[in-house]
Amino acid sequence: MKRILVTGGAGFIGANFVKFLLKEETDVFIVNYDAMTYAGNLESISDVLTDDRHVFVHGDIRDSVKIDETIKSHRLEAIINFAAESHVDRSIEGPEAFIDTNVNGTLKLLISSQKIGLKRFLQVSTDEVYGSLLPDEEAFREDTQIKPNSPYSASKAAADHLVRAYHHTFGLDSITTRCSNNYGPYQFPEKMIPLCINNAFNNKKIPVYGDGMQIRDWLYVEDHCRAIWLAFKNGKTGETYNIGGGNQMTNIELVKIILKECGKDESLIDFVKDRPGHDRRYAIDFSKIKRELAWSPLCNFDAGIRKTVKWYCENRKWLDNLTSGEYKKYYEKMYSGR
Ligand code: NAD
Ligand code: TYD
Repeated sequence: MKRILVTGGAGFIGANFVKFLLKEETDVFIVNYDAMTYAGNLESISDVLTDDRHVFVHGDIRDSVKIDETIKSHRLEAIINFAAESHVDRSIEGPEAFIDTNVNGTLKLLISSQKIGLKRFLQVSTDEVYGSLLPDEEAFREDTQIKPNSPYSASKAAADHLVRAYHHTFGLDSITTRCSNNYGPYQFPEKMIPLCINNAFNNKKIPVYGDGMQIRDWLYVEDHCRAIWLAFKNGKTGETYNIGGGNQMTNIELVKIILKECGKDESLIDFVKDRPGHDRRYAIDFSKIKRELAWSPLCNFDAGIRKTVKWYCENRKWLDNLTSGEYKKYYEKMYSGR
């Protein structure tokens, strides 16, 4: 199973995964299939575009004809689905695109997988499908009830249910992974960590939603990539695996660490109007993947955030190219007068 369709491989985690896999395995062939939405960026994969084990195809996961043709012409054996609309704030502004891509797009991929007889389908999902935890509640387990709160998490939960249904009804070999918040190189600066780093570099205020006491569990992206690859290779069909960093932290703590790492002071912190329906706390119990697949995070938060700030600092051009165009309008709309 070394000929793989990786969808969304020009986005943050997908791009990191493609690089990880090409480094990790010699005998692998990847077709990187991406619609190039605002979040897709060929610059993020420019170093692997000339690798003959990696082919980029500009395509939409909702386009069944193109998916079938791509799978058949490259004799692909499996799909790892990263492609998604991924930002909670955008899902509040416009949920339709989330249903279109995350639900209908995933369904199209499942239909093709079943019809063509692929050997495995791995759905890259999120801990956000479980909803929000109270301070004293136990971390999400794979059997925790799904209670998504945002249009984004609802669309991901719907996709997870479809994957489960395709396994149950058609016997499709499938795996679902649910990971906590990722950080690292190549993340679009709408997300908290690169937004914070970019603003700090430019001496701009850091918008902290509400009281900043919301808790997230941060994981360095390469650890997520390794977990996905292990689940893909050795996971048990039909199973779900939680992936987390064991790194719970409030947003305000996070911002203070980043400001320090960027050499900036806390006067840049700006408490702004909260996100509607903001999930208060995520925490992941990843004992199943640890026990069954021998996975644990290798990168601790201090080392990971240091590497990440350094990467954005050394790749200012990557950041500036993204933040010059459409992003300015997005930022204005999202944050002005908030
Ligand atoms: P991203 O927004 O950075 O990248 C998404 C990629 O998908 C982009 O390259 C985009 O062009 C592509 N895409 C979007 N719609 C498409 C379509 N219709 N057809 C083909 N390609 C399309 O997202 P990310 O942060 O890299 O997340 C990747 C996956 O991981 C998503 O499924 C997300 O739900 C999941 N996830 C993300 C996190 C996180 O912290 N970022 C955590 C857990 C799970
Ligand atoms: P984000 O990176 O959008 O991930 P998610 O909402 O999927 O967890 O946000 C991480 C946390 O940071 C979340 O609690 C929302 C908060 N946040 C801010 O306080 N300010 C911001 O400008 C953004 C983008 C996020």
